[in-house]
Amino acid sequence: MSSSTSTHNQFDNKAQAWSARFSEPVSELVKRYTASVDFDKRLALFDIQGSLAHATMLESVGVLSATDLADIQRGLAQVQAEIEAGKFEWLLDLEDVHLNIEKRLVELIGDAGKRLHTGRSRNDQVATDIRLWLRTEIDQAIQLLTELRQALANLALKYADVILPGFTHLQVAQPVTFGHHLLAYAEMFGRDAERLADCRKRVNRLPLGAAALAGTSFPINREYTAELLGFDEVCRNSLDAVSDRDFAIEFCAAAALVMTHISRLSEELVLWVSPRVGFIDIADRFCTGSSIMPQKKNPDVPELARGKTGRVTGHLVALLTLMKGQPLAYNKDNQEDKEGLFDAADTIRDTLTIFVDMIGGITVKADAMREAALQGFATATDLADYLVKKGLPFRDAHETVALAVRQCESENCDLADLSLEALQSFHPSIEADIYEVLSLEGSVAARNHIGGTAPERVRLEAERILSNKG
Ligand code: ARG
Repeated sequence: MSSSTSTHNQFDNKAQAWSARFSEPVSELVKRYTASVDFDKRLALFDIQGSLAHATMLESVGVLSATDLADIQRGLAQVQAEIEAGKFEWLLDLEDVHLNIEKRLVELIGDAGKRLHTGRSRNDQVATDIRLWLRTEIDQAIQLLTELRQALANLALKYADVILPGFTHLQVAQPVTFGHHLLAYAEMFGRDAERLADCRKRVNRLPLGAAALAGTSFPINREYTAELLGFDEVCRNSLDAVSDRDFAIEFCAAAALVMTHISRLSEELVLWVSPRVGFIDIADRFCTGSSIMPQKKNPDVPELARGKTGRVTGHLVALLTLMKGQPLAYNKDNQEDKEGLFDAADTIRDTLTIFVDMIGGITVKADAMREAALQGFATATDLADYLVKKGLPFRDAHETVALAVRQCESENCDLADLSLEALQSFHPSIEADIYEVLSLEGSVAARNHIGGTAPERVRLEAERILSNKG
């Protein structure tokens, strides 16, 4: 019964998990180098969930007896309880989460535990665990993105009429409403949520049944396992199922875009709170002081979020690089998929959670915004549009306004400060209604179309988001 001896050895702590055919043990360093338990134990509850479904399916097709299944269910429940209570002993010698759990199960229930791995390999097991875990992370991220969009929409509704300068090239361009500016980010985060929902479709497929790479000779029912685990589909090729990590790459790409958008917003928050600009204040709980300069209140959270964007983008590049050289099917390279993936999910979860709260706590300094919008001839385009409506070709109108701006610059005044006669000297068609056009309020109110900055539009868009339709 040499085979039963080797099975027994498999769960001897002193030996490697698969040790029977090896003549010498690996060094401590190699053991640490190749083990993943320190980080993949995070998948433990998903591993148990996958094992329960696998065992249930095996019993349904007659590969496991009802008694074995009952033992496995009882044993895994205890393992789960031990893990949740923090009493589970994780052993580096057992390499990874899968072998640690299996060994404890065998300790608890004996032979039935040894039968659990029938028709399965760690290769399809780990791919299943990651997908189960990632699915819940995606659901959380989508929920947080929704909350962040609602926080932005609430603020936008409150400040739909507040005007600040809109910039191009970081120079005053045209007046926009603060609400409109905020809703630009709500759009970005909306697309991020769509991307994650789309990625979820490809995450939510079952690898189990692929076994090591070629499938299994047992009469398995993969559709049943998929149903038990809430997977929408079954991976259609065993070689692909155990080896490709494109679903994780897609998630990291979506996460990197979330962070890119967060980073753009952070950049603006940092700019807006700087005393030089002073457009907003963020609550003290998101800032820190300086150990040397008593006057400082630093926007640490947005700065850190901007900084953390780099690591998530890094994880995306790392995963792409990890995948590109791998022949079919499973290679141990894939063990390197986890830490970056975990970190990407953790980073977006924490960042989004903090941002929901931080956006809700923004104080707006409408006067400073207005004052800034009054500088830099923000309504020059409105004057040009006015002339076009009077019949001038746009290029001529543009030229005419440029001359008027030049005069204002030399007189150090704004277009609206010019007398009607002075304005008419640039073009006789200008009438008294020009002052409404040159006002900040007139400028934004005029842009009343889908996607425009008019307060009325901002309110409609914000309400769409708040009612979950946008
Ligand atoms: N810890 C491994 C991983 O994360 C599990 C799969 C191991 N399979 C193997 N054939 N060595 O990828």
